[in-house]
Amino acid sequence: MAANDSLLPLLEHVAELLRGAEHITCLTGAGVSAESGVPTFRGVGGLWEGRRPETLATPEAFASDPEEVWRFYLWRRRLLLACKPNPGHYALARLERKKPGFTLITQNVDGLHVQAGSRRVLAVHGDIWIDRCTRCGQEARSTGEDFERIPHCGLCGALARPGVVWFGELLPTDVWTQAERAAASCDLMLVAGTSSLVYPAASLADVARAGGATVVEVNPEATPLTSEADVAVPAPSGQSLPTIVDRLGDSGNRAPCRPADRVDGGQPRQ
Ligand code: APR
Repeated sequence: MAANDSLLPLLEHVAELLRGAEHITCLTGAGVSAESGVPTFRGVGGLWEGRRPETLATPEAFASDPEEVWRFYLWRRRLLLACKPNPGHYALARLERKKPGFTLITQNVDGLHVQAGSRRVLAVHGDIWIDRCTRCGQEARSTGEDFERIPHCGLCGALARPGVVWFGELLPTDVWTQAERAAASCDLMLVAGTSSLVYPAASLADVARAGGATVVEVNPEATPLTSEADVAVPAPSGQSLPTIVDRLGDSGNRAPCRPADRVDGGQPRQ
């Protein structure tokens, strides 16, 4: 669905800002995948509605009941198999091709940005399709076929865990360092589809602002960032981002879109 006509001047203004920016960094959250049918975490119908994150998304929960935790993640994997990138994901992949100094940072673990053709993706919260051995640390990409069996390590046979970052865990150091650097050095930061409630990812917009960047938020709901942002686009990303990127024009379009490796090598680590 295209963006609402009344928003066009605002979207044109954002396109103008993007056109003038040399280094653009984008931070995405669950809202960017909402129009693909992936549930967000907070709010009505979110994954945390009626569930307690501390019993499903912490190292302590996994230590006390790995089966319960795996049931949750295998269910999410099954759900994701039916989901495809939406126009918002594709717009960000196109933006990367138009602007060489573009970095995409995502809190999403669903892999949809890569599927849409984004090439440099800093997945700060890991990757739900990775099984990581709890004993030797070996990582393996799930085939996504067996949703009944709890994964074990192909090398040492020990229990594996999902390759995501849980509450109370550190973000993968090299990925996070690159994300902070991209936030500190950009002249424009686009923050799309995140509640801006979960740290340290939410601090990246502050890092960008402290470095003098213009901050643009895309979110149909107000967040703690909305009043701090230079521009807030109150619309779904799948509707607004394609219009913004269309309006950028073709200048600076450098490379064809194709799925490729991520700058973090697809290896989320603790
Ligand atoms: N387009 C843009 N934004 C949207 C859309 C949409 N179509 N639909 C919903 N949103 C917004 C909501 O208004 C909300 O602000 O997306 C945001 C989703 O917020 P959360 O569910 O809190 O997701 P996120 O901010 O990504 O969560 C951060 O919390 O539980 C952890 O590790 C998990 O990475 C996740 C982190």
